[in-house]
Amino acid sequence: MSPLTPVIGPEAIEARVRGLAREIDAHYRGEPLVCVCVLKGAFMFFADLVRHLQCGPELDFIRLASYGGGTSSTGKVRFMHDVETSLEGKHVLVVDDIVDSGRSMEYLLNILSRRGTLSVKLCALLDKFERREVELKVDFPGFPLKEGFVVGYGMDYGEHYRELPGVFEVKP
Ligand code: IMP
Ligand code: MG
Repeated sequence: MSPLTPVIGPEAIEARVRGLAREIDAHYRGEPLVCVCVLKGAFMFFADLVRHLQCGPELDFIRLASYGGGTSSTGKVRFMHDVETSLEGKHVLVVDDIVDSGRSMEYLLNILSRRGTLSVKLCALLDKFERREVELKVDFPGFPLKEGFVVGYGMDYGEHYRELPGVFEVKP
């Protein structure tokens, strides 16, 4: 296993997740909302976030697969699993683990916004905004993050570390 350095602890995550839930509730109050979890990385964040929401959203899940490999994102994604809910006439909040270049989310948000939605917005636990390669704003960002590859709280390195309750930097 690789050495891990703590970056964000479970208590700080919990506090920020509650804050995000309040912001999201205030924004969508009384409106039809579907929260879409981007598997697999966002599963833990999503589960914690939605249990604090009081706006009664529908929940659904997507799984993307990037074309190509390596560590840098091409942004070309395809659906391994699409949502099963109709998004027509509803607000959509995509919930992801971390936005880096922004290419995958730019691509996804574009596709979803062509489905007759009222709006499509993005919530991400971590926002590597300095590394953005496209113009993409995270509407509900959890924490800003600079350089480094992080794992834990749903995020993996070779499918390991997803189960950790906090976020760690991994130096492979
Ligand atoms: P983007 O298209 O460059 O924004 O790629 C974002 C995706 O790459 C995220 O949703 C993660 O799945 C993955 N990713 C980017 N940085 C990290 C990291 O530090 N740890 C784990 N996954 C990451
Ligand atoms: Mg992801």
